[in-house]
Amino acid sequence: MGGSCVRAMLGRVKRDAHPTVGDAAAPVIRLDGVSMRYPGGSVALHPTTVDFHGGQFTALLGASGAGKSTLIRCINLLNSPSEGTVHVSGIGPIIGPRALLHHRRQTGVVFQQHQLIGRLSALRNVLTGRLGYHGSWRSLWPLPARDQRIALGCLERVGLLDKALERVDRLSGGQQQRVGIARALAQQPQIMLADEPVASLDPATARRVLTLLRDVCRQDGIPAVVSLHQLDLARAFADRIVALAEGKVVFDGPADAFGEAEQAAAYAASTLTPAAVTRRSPAGPLSGPTCSTPMENSA
Ligand SMILES: Nc1ncnc2c1ncn2[C@@H]1O[C@H](COP(=O)(O)OP(=O)(O)OP(=O)(O)O)[C@@H](O)[C@H]1O
Ligand SMILES: [Mg+2]
Repeated sequence: MGGSCVRAMLGRVKRDAHPTVGDAAAPVIRLDGVSMRYPGGSVALHPTTVDFHGGQFTALLGASGAGKSTLIRCINLLNSPSEGTVHVSGIGPIIGPRALLHHRRQTGVVFQQHQLIGRLSALRNVLTGRLGYHGSWRSLWPLPARDQRIALGCLERVGLLDKALERVDRLSGGQQQRVGIARALAQQPQIMLADEPVASLDPATARRVLTLLRDVCRQDGIPAVVSLHQLDLARAFADRIVALAEGKVVFDGPADAFGEAEQAAAYAASTLTPAAVTRRSPAGPLSGPTCSTPMENSA
């Protein structure tokens, strides 16, 4: 496909409307008493109940090993929780292969290391985000024009339309991460997950990538759950911070309420006492309790 063909197809992309989340007040996703114990390991996530709402950018914070990746992997059931249930708006409890397939198809995931296929073009990588809408045999043939238009629209959205036909191993790290976001967008996701998406990027590129994720979250009205190690970025970009320590939620509230004391509690688990645990309701349409663990309940 040539560059002029790329642009001709894109001219029709606006017709492919992005499905939006229905009831803004209801959580898009709810983890109900979800816990995770890895085989042969200790408990990585204690039973946790937490809601994620449309249009809300949540930063997951916590020291290494606190359980951030485990929580993210429980949301899209890459980890099958040891206990508890994941509920998704429009699907219900994620039980059985059909519900799991549906949930995974509409959950966009952005990885730290991009997980792109280097020898393929940006466009073909983004098209892999469409495969969940087709049978597995479909990957043997070119995807329909509608999928191509959606993929091109996603590349345009992340500012990389001019790189559509470029091999991704010739792109910079920041550009590759934007291709990764475009691939997630091509799924037309109802929820966006990102596990340390800016860990390997320079500060300016990191801010650009987080701006993009926040814009997607707000414009499409979907929840974004993003694990970060940079507190300044979490405070700058997130609406809400959920901090974990030793597999337990120790803070859940608006980003600007995550102060020095909350930070100390989250990053010094060994000195954590119930009194140090802070819990505040997120502001705005997400007000009300959204998260609890047994530790909090007993505090
Ligand atoms: N596949 C696994 N098998 C066994 N234990 C695991 C596995 N993955 C993670 N763990 C353990 O679960 C706990 C939580 O790990 P997790 O990767 O969720 O932490 P994290 O907060 O994402 O850390 P980091 O900031 O380093 O990425 C850790 O004690 C870790 O050793
Ligand atoms: Mg991790």
